[in-house]
Parts: sequence; C-alpha cells; structure tokens
Amino acid sequence: MKIWIYQIWLVTLAVVAMCGYSLPTSAQQLTAENIDEVINAMTLEEKCHLVLGCGMHFNDEAKFPGTAGSTFDIARLGIPKTYCADSQQGLRMDSHRSWDHRDYYPTDFVASMTLASTWDREAAYKVGKGIGNEVREFGLDWILSPSMNLIRNVLCGRNHEYYSEDPYLSGTIAAGYVNGVQSEGTAACPKHFIANNQETNRNNNISQMSQRALREIYLKAFEVMIRESNPWTIMTSYNKLNGPYAVQNRELLTTIVRDEWGWKGMYVSDWNAGDDAVAAMLAGNDMLQPGQPKQYQAILAAAQSGQLPMEVLNANVRRILEYIVKTHNFKGYESSNTPDLKAHAKVVREVGADGIVLLKNDAATLPLAGKRVALFGCTSYDWISGGSGFGGTSVGHYTVSLVEGMRSAGYEVYKPLIGLYTKHIADEEKRLFPNGRPPFSLMPPARAEEKQFTADEMAAAIEGSDVAIISLGRKSGEAADRSKSDFYLKEGEKELIKAVSEAYHAQGKKVVVLLDICSPIDVASWQNQVDALVCTWQGGQESGFAVADVLSGKVNPSGKLPMTFQINYGDAYADRNFPSDVDDKTLGAMFMWGYNKDAAPQDRQPQKDIDFTNYEEDIYVGYRYFDSFDKPVAYPFGYGLSYTTFAYSDTRCSVDGDAITVSVTVRNTGTRAGRNVVELFVAAPNSKKLNKPEKELRNYAKSRLLQPGETETVTMTVTTQDLASFNEKTSAWKTDAGIYTFMICSSANDVEATTTAKVKAWTKKVNNVMKPNVKLNLLKR
Ligand code: BGC
Repeated sequence: MKIWIYQIWLVTLAVVAMCGYSLPTSAQQLTAENIDEVINAMTLEEKCHLVLGCGMHFNDEAKFPGTAGSTFDIARLGIPKTYCADSQQGLRMDSHRSWDHRDYYPTDFVASMTLASTWDREAAYKVGKGIGNEVREFGLDWILSPSMNLIRNVLCGRNHEYYSEDPYLSGTIAAGYVNGVQSEGTAACPKHFIANNQETNRNNNISQMSQRALREIYLKAFEVMIRESNPWTIMTSYNKLNGPYAVQNRELLTTIVRDEWGWKGMYVSDWNAGDDAVAAMLAGNDMLQPGQPKQYQAILAAAQSGQLPMEVLNANVRRILEYIVKTHNFKGYESSNTPDLKAHAKVVREVGADGIVLLKNDAATLPLAGKRVALFGCTSYDWISGGSGFGGTSVGHYTVSLVEGMRSAGYEVYKPLIGLYTKHIADEEKRLFPNGRPPFSLMPPARAEEKQFTADEMAAAIEGSDVAIISLGRKSGEAADRSKSDFYLKEGEKELIKAVSEAYHAQGKKVVVLLDICSPIDVASWQNQVDALVCTWQGGQESGFAVADVLSGKVNPSGKLPMTFQINYGDAYADRNFPSDVDDKTLGAMFMWGYNKDAAPQDRQPQKDIDFTNYEEDIYVGYRYFDSFDKPVAYPFGYGLSYTTFAYSDTRCSVDGDAITVSVTVRNTGTRAGRNVVELFVAAPNSKKLNKPEKELRNYAKSRLLQPGETETVTMTVTTQDLASFNEKTSAWKTDAGIYTFMICSSANDVEATTTAKVKAWTKKVNNVMKPNVKLNLLKR
C-alpha cells in the first residue's frame, strides 16, 4: 500500500516537473522584513501571476466597481490583493455598488492645469492628500496618478491631466501631489513614463527625439518629481521612444532611472501597453496591468527556459512585494467609507480659485461692480468641471454651476436667459444624442452649438443686467487629440461675442469672458472686443463657487499660466510635428494602424505624426521657443494679473558651494490683499552661442496673502547642477563656468529685477543611452 502511494507521489512529481509547475515550499507569511524568504517560498507560477494584474474591474462583480484593477493575492503566503484606481482629479469609481444601498461619492478635485496654475506646491500637496485619504477611506491602496507628461502641444487630448510645458514646474507640482497622496499611506503612481505627448496612435507611435531633449526636458520633469517625492510606483507609457516601447526599454527604465537616479520603486505598465511581456520584465518593468493569459504563458515559458533569468524575475517580484507591504490592505486598514468630504470640498474651492488666471482686466472691470449679471454661452449653464476619460472626473456627483456660484455670492442672475438656455441646451441634447448620452466615454461628448439672440432678447438682457459674462468651453480627454479647428472659436461663438460686446458696449456696459477650457485656445483674434478675460480652467465640483469668488473679489486671483497661449496654431515649433489634422475622434484614433491592418506589412507606409513623431523643436518647447526666437505670443508662460499690484526690491544673490540662493522682497503696492508668484528664471552666459534657451525657469515661490503695503522676503535656491545642459558628444551634464543672470519675473516675457552670480563649472558623465535611431533635423538657435 505504502509503495503504491509512494509511486503515485513520484509520478505526480514527474508530471508536475514536466508541466513546468513547481511545488510550494513552506508557507511564510509576508512581513516587511521577510520579503526575500517569501520570494524563496514562492512557486514559479505564483511569481508569474504576481507580476501581472488580475484583469479589468470595470464591472459590478468587482469589489470596487468602476476602478482600474488589482494585484494578485497569494493567501498561503499572506499576500493580499491590493486595489488601484484612476484618476488625476479624484478617485474614479462607480458611485453605486449593486449589493449596497449607500452612495460612494469621492470628491471631484481640480483639473491638473488648474492645479499647476496655482504655482503652489502646498496646494498640490493638499489636493494629493485629499485624494490619498479618499483612496484609503474607500478601501483601495493605490492611485494611478499624477499624470505629468510634458505639455508639448496645445492640442494633446490629455493636456487637462498634465501640468505644464516646463519640466521644473511639472516636476515640483507633481512632487507636491505625490507627497500629499503618500502622506496618507496611499501609493502614488506618476505617469505616463515617458514622452506620451499625443493620443493619436498612442499605442504605437514612436516619439523620436535627441538625447538632449529627452534628458533636459522630458526626463527632467520626472527626475525633479522623483528627487522631491520618491513615489512608490511609476507607470510606463504606451508609446515607443527612439525605437522600442517605453515599457520594454531597459536603458530607460533601469539604466537611467534606477542606476543613475537611484529610484527603487515599482514600475507598472499602462493598461495593455507593449507587445512583449518578457521584454518588459527584462527591462525592469515589474508589473504588467491589467494582465493577460498570454502574458502569463510567455513569462512562465521564458522563466523555465532561462530566457528570463530568475534573478530578474525575483527582482521584479521583490519590488512588487515592497509596494504591497506598504499598502492599507496589507496592513489590514479598516476603511470607513466616510472620508471628510466637506473638508475636501473646501480644498477644491480654495485651490480652484487660486488656479484661476486673470488674463485681461481693462479699466478694472473686475472685480464686478454691479450686482446684476447676465450669463451668456452654453457653458455658463453646462459648466465643464474637468476632462473626459480615466483621468477625468468621477461619474455622477455634483458640479456647482455658475448660476449657483454667482447667486451664492450675492449676484442677481438675469432669469430670462436661464430659461432660454435651458430650452436651447435641451434641444441641442436631443439633436446631438437622439438615443441618449453614453454613460461614460473616453472622448468628450459633442457640445451644444451656441445660441444667438434676437434684438429684443438682447435689449431686454442689457436692461436687466449691469454686466455680460460669456463662458466658452472646451473639453478633451483620453484616446483622441483635439484638432486644429478646436483651437479656434466656432462661428457661433464668434457671433455671440461680437453681438453681446457691441450691444453691451453701446449701452456703456462691460463684457467679461470666462475660459472654461482644457488647454489654450485662440484669444488673440477676438479678445479686443471684450473688457476682461479670465481663464478659469476646470475647477472640479466647486467650480461655480471658485469662479464667483474671483469675479466678486472675495479671492484676489494669483494664478499664473503654466503654458503659453500662442497666437495661432502653428506658431509653436512643435506644431510642425503633431497630428493636428486628424479628425478621427473615435476610439480608433489611438490605434491608427487599425485602419490599414489588413494591408500587407510592406504596404503600410509609416505616416508622419501618426506612426512616428519627430521632436524637431528639440529643447525649444513652449516658452523656450517663443522666448529664445523672439516670437510674439498672446499670453506668455507665467503670465497672470491680480486686482492689486506688486513691486520687487532688494534682489540679492549669494553663493555657498553648489547652492546659489536668490532672495527678493515683494511688496503689495495696491489696495487689495493678494498673493504673488515670484518666478526665478536663469540665463546662462553665451546662451545663444551655446544653443541654450534664452532663459529657463529654475525655481519659484508663492507669497502668503499680503495686505496692502505689506512685504515678504522670499528665498529660492538653485544648484550648480540645476544649471547644467546635456552634452551629447561627451554624454555628460555640464554647467559652464561664468556669470549667470538670475531674473525675478512676472512672466517669461516680464523681467522685474535681475542679479548675477559667478558660477563654477560642473560636469557629470552619464550613460550614453537612448539614442534616436533616425537622423533628426533639430532646431538650433
Ligand atoms: C490610461 C491610464 C490609466 C489606465 C487605467 C489607460 O487607458 O492611459 O492613464 O491609468 O488606462 O485606467
């Protein structure tokens, strides 16, 4: 009998070995201290499962419906499932769970553009902390944000999720957000690493750029963010970069980020990114989400054949376990489902108002003098609180409307227009969505055409109001870029602005335009018709309150543009290499090859800006281009007015070793309390000769609320290393010795004060990696 059992056991072992299964060793329970022992106790199959997610969770069977995914659990080793969710602007999950009567409404915080416009690291921290707290209290572990791709082109569909055209501003705002999220014990996941700067064909497009642009611009934002916040995880992007997919590029993920920068966290792929799971593992991309059976088979086979060395797989597993032991679910946190939503709403309102940028204010039109306002434009009655797609706002909660915001600030909103617009928007809704609106869409649904008014309707509105407020809206989202036509106003919008401005001005009344937009639009061609122009961006659920706070003067605007408003599409050098005319706004836009997938491979000619995008502007992205090449803009990077005025004095500079410290005293010279953003740009000696930008943002500070006459001295530090440019010939960062000019600016075009410092030379050799494999025709000064 015993021999018989023994024989069966031997046969079982043989079968198991043949099938490639390994047997579990003794069951260790995971702790933060025994990760290596747990790895030793894991079977190969368990390892292969752990490096993959557990599938999509956008369904009602999941524990957290509407969230993005989870990680694999291994109960025998005490490894729990952990849960992740988008998004940038607040936890994205369904508000209802079919088995539960309660509501699950997370806060709809502010769009990234709004946050970046505060130029306030503390604001970013508060938003991140609020989101991190809600992730924890609703039972999840990991938020798939911040999105922080550099804004290279005004038409990128996901710009509302991104921060800035400048890597330092992007990196520091992202760091504030990450620090806030992680202060709640929630994992942050900055994304999409890297150079995912367009949505068109994003799953296959190759971003092709110089090593210098990659290092100085695109990587720099992440480098700053990692240095200042050490995120637990990073998400690799869909696109290819100078050849391979980012998710499968070892030079990028391991040589630069781990070896050179020393980052030790866990990489996760974007959802279904790349085409070779084993290559991703070898590159150091620890986890693939949401995970596919064929990826499991490929990783298992590669591990068995030795193509994927066990030490590589173990390193990936180790980094995943290092993340897991930090999570709420690992620690057994009992989530309450009742985060302090009121406190978070307060943050949204404050940050939303602080991120509003006042662009134009002729004859002190704002704050509003009269109390009777007429609201024009469909957007005034259909406010856009954020973008669409996974990085957009959560479904189903509220957005404080402009009407509600204005009324609560004590304004009388001209009623007949409310009636006219309600009917107009309902009619448009029927026209645009005869079968009803889709419940969720990655791409923004079509918006109503503007209503035009009869002479009588207009005359009555003028009679019944002291001022006209026109709102213009633009919404964009994941999976498709905006097209050039979306940059410009539609005919109906132009007619509305003209008609309202002429009629109101004829009666000596003023016109204010609000830009409820996801990314810059044309303002240069029409703004002279109106008296005030306010870029509200998209301010989340408390939008109406935040806008009213600024229009009424309760909050003095202190926001500054995180990107340039160009005059025309085509003005930025990067516009030459961007898919601005792709009119496909369907899901197919992100897989353009899908269109001729039936063609034989030799017939598929790679298309410019779709299959590959050449970053010919090189380092001259955003203001680095306009400023260095003396090109006019509508509003420069860093621009923003206030209801008060500020003056700068006592600009000083001191050098201590590698640190250059600049201090300046800001005085409120006007009549209202206000905050001021102090922007520190630096110009290198011989910048033109050395093909460097005219000046670059190297630091910034935001003053506290200064009363009229009050002063504050702010100090900002820049290191010699921060001033370095990347020299491709020597593969080295290099700061030239010389006299550098430190400029206190109120925008990239407005230098308020300067000081100089003698800077010592500095250089650091790094790896010669990530070379483009095509010849690029790069812009030079
Ligand atoms: C987006 C990511 C997101 C992921 C999971 C992808 O389509 O690009 O930003 O985190 O989906 O929802």
